[in-house]
Amino acid sequence: MTQKTALITGITGQDGAYLAEYLLKKGYIVHGMKRRSSLFNTDRIDHLYQDPHIEDPKLFLHYGDLTDSLNITRIIQETQPDEIYNLAAMSHVQVSFETAEYTANADGLGTLRILEAVRLLGLAKKTRIYQASTSELYGLVQQVPQSETTPFYPRSPYAVAKMYAYWITVNYREAYGMHASNGILFNHESPIRGETFVTRKVTRALSKIALGLQQSIFMGNLNSRRDWGHAKDYIRAMYLILQQEKPSDYVIATGITTTIRDFIDMAAKEIGLKIEFRGEGPDEIGVLYDVDQERFIEKVGDKYLDQIISRAAVKDVIVGVDKRYFRPTEVDLLIGDPTKSKTQLGWEPYYDLPALITDMMNSDVKLMKKESYLKEGGYDIMNYFE
Ligand code: NAP
Ligand code: GDD
Repeated sequence: MTQKTALITGITGQDGAYLAEYLLKKGYIVHGMKRRSSLFNTDRIDHLYQDPHIEDPKLFLHYGDLTDSLNITRIIQETQPDEIYNLAAMSHVQVSFETAEYTANADGLGTLRILEAVRLLGLAKKTRIYQASTSELYGLVQQVPQSETTPFYPRSPYAVAKMYAYWITVNYREAYGMHASNGILFNHESPIRGETFVTRKVTRALSKIALGLQQSIFMGNLNSRRDWGHAKDYIRAMYLILQQEKPSDYVIATGITTTIRDFIDMAAKEIGLKIEFRGEGPDEIGVLYDVDQERFIEKVGDKYLDQIISRAAVKDVIVGVDKRYFRPTEVDLLIGDPTKSKTQLGWEPYYDLPALITDMMNSDVKLMKKESYLKEGGYDIMNYFE
């Protein structure tokens, strides 16, 4: 079998990093597009980095941006990929309300730039394209659960931009016979999830609270519901979609939905913290009312036990609500129907929500312990003018 070449846009993101490792393990040559940044932005893929001077390297990085047609066209021309995974995006829903034009440019027109470059370069019959579509397209949901035939009702500049990207992908497939497919992925998380998405914000904060590094966390809408899976499972679906003989669009989801409040509760219990929620709306709080000491010692360590027990003794508030995190228009409920992907792709997730939470909490407790050790050693503060 000839060696395949893949181009991943957004290789420095959560999904891009997992997908790059997955494809390298399958023997692919992987090209990734990364943005120029004033700081290193390759943390998630540093373990995959190969010095270009070694013999027969398999991973190559190219500077690029989805808003730059010339650059996209050049990278595709140079790399001649068999498969393109378009994962790059301004992917934060709340931020898209503040950067609506940029989001439309990168997330909407960016997809068009890739499709058109492939067509103009005469690669329409060679290069298969995966477009990272999203359950945010369902927005104000018109059906429960949501499947490939559920009508869209986007509720943010991000979702509206992704709606354009979805349909332009379908259009190029139908107009030019391109192997271009949408994966309509529901929320997927992991220990390398961006720090401002709700799950990672919670697992990081609870870990810091457990170690005495942080007092409390402020959240937005605790009532919204998400269908959460593990990113490691979801990137396998991306790969499977491009291995199908015919292009098509697939929902990737677990079929189970959970409130943000319950996610916090489950993540806290994972390390032995018991939270009781009181009040409603912006006045809701979560108090620490008990500690499962055995669990806490196993998951966090006895060194940190006394301070957390004394906080539980006075029923200290560890979760609050700040309206700043409420969105102008919200997506209240997402729950996917993955029947098509299970039957046609043979896709099955290995992780359920408790296993995802265990993975994320284990990783963040470890990460925050590193921070705690640095603090103990006096290496945590940096001032330029002292
Ligand atoms: P992520 O962690 O935010 O990664 C996004 C990637 O896109 C990063 O590599 C980022 O680069 C890059 N990027 C952003 N703007 C760019 C631009 N203008 N030009 C080139 N690259 C740019 O997102 P993710 O969670 O891995 O998600 C991957 C894709 O799936 C995204 O398109 C997202 O919208 C979509 N999606 C995600 C989920 C989910 O639950 N994770 C669900 C459905 C769909 P920097 O590292 O430099 O920022
Ligand atoms: N980020 C965040 N921060 N969300 C909060 C908070 C908070 O403090 N408090 C409550 N939420 C609620 C949000 O209002 C939303 O209803 C839900 O938690 C999930 O928010 P995010 O984790 O930011 O994800 P998202 O669902 O908006 O978007 C993610 O999933 C989409 C797929 O449905 C992103 O990864 C998108 O790129 C992706 O398309």
